[in-house]
Amino acid sequence: MSKVKGLWSPGYQFVVLFLVLLSYADTAVSGITSSFVRSEWPAIDIPIDSEEFAVPKDHDAPQQVHITQGDYDGRAVIVSWVTNTPEPSEMLYGKSEHNYDHNARGKTTNYTYYDYKSGYIHHALIDSLEYDTKYYYKIGTGNSAREFFFQTPPKIDVDAPYAFGIIGDLGQTYNSLSTLEHYMQSGGQTVLYVGDLSYADRYICNNGTRWDSWARFIERSVAFQPWIWSAGNHEIEYSPHLGEPYPFKAFLHRYATPHLASGSSSPLWYAIRRASAHIIVLSSYSPFVVYTPQWHWLRDELKKVDREKTPWLIVLMHSPLYNSNHAHYMEGESMRAVFESWFIHYKVDLVFAGHVHAYERSYRISNINYNITSGNRYPVPDKSAPVYITVGDGGNQEGLAERFSHPQPDYSAFREASYGHATLELKNRTHALYRWNRNDDGKQVPTDHVVFRNQYWASNTRRRRLKKNHGSQALANLVAAY
Ligand SMILES: *[C@@H]1O[C@H](CO)[C@@H](O)[C@H](O)[C@H]1NC(C)=O
Ligand SMILES: *[C@@H]1O[C@H](CO)[C@@H](O)[C@H](O)[C@H]1NC(C)=O
Ligand SMILES: *[C@@H]1O[C@H](CO)[C@@H](O)[C@H](O)[C@H]1NC(C)=O
Ligand SMILES: *[C@@H]1O[C@H](CO)[C@@H](O)[C@H](O)[C@H]1NC(C)=O
Ligand SMILES: [Fe+2]
Repeated sequence: MSKVKGLWSPGYQFVVLFLVLLSYADTAVSGITSSFVRSEWPAIDIPIDSEEFAVPKDHDAPQQVHITQGDYDGRAVIVSWVTNTPEPSEMLYGKSEHNYDHNARGKTTNYTYYDYKSGYIHHALIDSLEYDTKYYYKIGTGNSAREFFFQTPPKIDVDAPYAFGIIGDLGQTYNSLSTLEHYMQSGGQTVLYVGDLSYADRYICNNGTRWDSWARFIERSVAFQPWIWSAGNHEIEYSPHLGEPYPFKAFLHRYATPHLASGSSSPLWYAIRRASAHIIVLSSYSPFVVYTPQWHWLRDELKKVDREKTPWLIVLMHSPLYNSNHAHYMEGESMRAVFESWFIHYKVDLVFAGHVHAYERSYRISNINYNITSGNRYPVPDKSAPVYITVGDGGNQEGLAERFSHPQPDYSAFREASYGHATLELKNRTHALYRWNRNDDGKQVPTDHVVFRNQYWASNTRRRRLKKNHGSQALANLVAAY
């Protein structure tokens, strides 16, 4: 504990604080490489017996409580928890505190990984919820009962406001804790998680107790608001030498996703709609080339997107398609070659990824003219293209990816190797306020700040006028009279 206190002491905090604009030649398009260096805690995991991972006192109490969206449109929630003993998978919920008029029964699962044996993992689906409503829920009975609450999202609507947080590669160090605490002060209502969760696979024999400690660590947020999961490379845990040849074993047992609601055959790729957003989750580490299940599913899902209902089209994946860091350079290239032209065609607003332990935001660019023989080697500005954002800076034990390529490529707008999280506030059909927040103590530091205009509604004024016309008769008359 004394070691921990030392790390929090004031003298340790700030080392250097300055920004360097690499080039002033064209301020509108030249990228920024921030050379800010913030002191950080060592990239080592918080000791397993620390209070951050505290087990509930009662032996039978539910622990590792977490929720995620349970259907396509946000009227269902999957509640998950772990118990030491094989208790019935039951929970209570309702709209007033301590007064539960509904119950739900979940499914229990358990697994082993080498010599690790999991607890009893429960997943209960509660559905037919009302929109924009606070629900309370209770798991366990008697002394071991624990109570939580969450707020359902507004009904799907073209102008429904909503605030998402984006976190990636979190792990379980004191830097991770800092990221989590800063996120929890941000007002974010749901986390879009871009992969690499516990980093349990960094331990001897992938020690599963680090999956348990991670779930207790994030409970402070994820028991009260949904986290939307995508899987990263640290979830693969392919270890035939340990007798564990099936990938994603711990992740699939522990983190349920509503994949069936979007017609997906795998929990690793799926889509949800929430407020004014259509969110597509892809798996960087599952087959995605032409004719694979993921490719077929994405092709069909993109056709279902209705920007008149959900104007904000957001894609999550782990491995970034554009990344100018030396770490994991070009690892996303194979997926870019397969999916980028669809992202352009469907005018995806934003693609969030993790994997690289730093922050980077691109301009709207594409490289779809490159086809090996075309000679067009470089990404070019493209108004129909998404902005690619890497937020792999949650703070795990592998440390920061500090080596960016030089010079900064034209497509890269801002990059910095610090820990942090992002927030995306959807205001209405045309505007979203985006921030990347570096972890900093005692104050909000929105280090990178952009107002995004919607790719469907804001890019075409004629469409906006036409829609207004359709919208209200009074307005239509007014426009006609004008
Ligand atoms: C799951 O729990 C049951 C009941 O305690 C037990 O019999 C079984 O061996 C466990 N399975 C695994 C894979 O650990
Ligand atoms: C896993 O971690 C726990 C808690 O730190 C420890 O008791 C156990 O020995 C570890 N198992 C392995 C196989 O290292
Ligand atoms: C590649 O691009 C070139 C130049 O745009 C074009 O002529 C050619 O047909 C393309 N090849 C394929 C296989 O699409
Ligand atoms: C959408 O939100 C932006 C930012 O808050 C605001 O400036 C704009 O007026 C809003 N547009 C409409 C149509 O409400
Ligand atoms: Fe990763």
